[in-house]
Amino acid sequence: MESKLAVNLRAIRRISPQLACPHCGGHLMLEEASLLCETGHRFDIAKPGYLFLLDHGIHTKYERQLFEARKRISDVGFFAPLTEKLAELCGIYLKGQTDGLLVDAGTGEGSHLAEINRQLGDSFPVVGLDIAKEGIRQAARDYPGHAWITADLAACPLQEDSTVLLLNILSPASYGEFDRILKKEGLLIKVFPEKDYLQEIRMAFGLKESSGHAVVYARLLEEYTIIQEETLHYQKALSAERFRDLLLMTPLGWHLEAAQVDHFLQGELPQVTVGYRLVVARKKA
Ligand SMILES: C[S@@+](CC[C@H](N)C(=O)[O-])C[C@H]1O[C@@H](n2cnc3c(N)ncnc32)[C@H](O)[C@@H]1O
Repeated sequence: MESKLAVNLRAIRRISPQLACPHCGGHLMLEEASLLCETGHRFDIAKPGYLFLLDHGIHTKYERQLFEARKRISDVGFFAPLTEKLAELCGIYLKGQTDGLLVDAGTGEGSHLAEINRQLGDSFPVVGLDIAKEGIRQAARDYPGHAWITADLAACPLQEDSTVLLLNILSPASYGEFDRILKKEGLLIKVFPEKDYLQEIRMAFGLKESSGHAVVYARLLEEYTIIQEETLHYQKALSAERFRDLLLMTPLGWHLEAAQVDHFLQGELPQVTVGYRLVVARKKA
């Protein structure tokens, strides 16, 4: 059987003409298990087959445990209605397209992108970008066959006009870079939480309501023209172990005391509300 590294290398080779050196923007060429740009910058492909194209150090809360928790939550179908809806939208908007990348900007541990692409019949060249190396490493391990890249969205290592559809799911946007990499007719699908997202956690721990969604939406409207907009609301019951994972993976849980969490998990657990806004948009001319 082919190794994960070999499968991932093939996926990187497929999209390599669209890659840009994070230092100088030049084209990158694949040479065995390395990429080399015209000016001589070299990047090795790390096991199990991902690219590290970050040109600066970072400090992030998104570490191994968090992404492992996110994957366990994903594996019990927590995000299934979301990925199903996204695959449907991608199918509609990619219909007839034969050229360009499907990119997930802020892909985390890659489960959404891998599932969406599976539902699309694995036909598109896809790229998952995230600044957290650990998420990308896990994506390459768990979902081989896609191009997984550690990179900063503020300096996307992709060529201009390379991307036909850009997903940006619960992650920060970098509109200047999105505009640069998107084709003229390319589309952005941005997903952000609705006001009621995980409201039971806010209620249980006395946390403030968030107004973040309004700010995200206003910023999107400044930059993009809305083509289609949907809301998605559902409720999920979780076991105590998966509820613990949820508290580990969401920023809402990051400042809670361990004793508070233990006490909560021993009680009767509420179903959690999941609410998303999905916006399909085109950059303003
Ligand atoms: C809430 S997580 C969402 C991950 C994934 N889209 C999902 O829905 O499971 C936000 C992600 O954005 C990534 N992120 C934050 N700032 C970034 C940046 N400047 N460049 C690339 N990724 C970034 C984080 O590392 C994290 O994986």
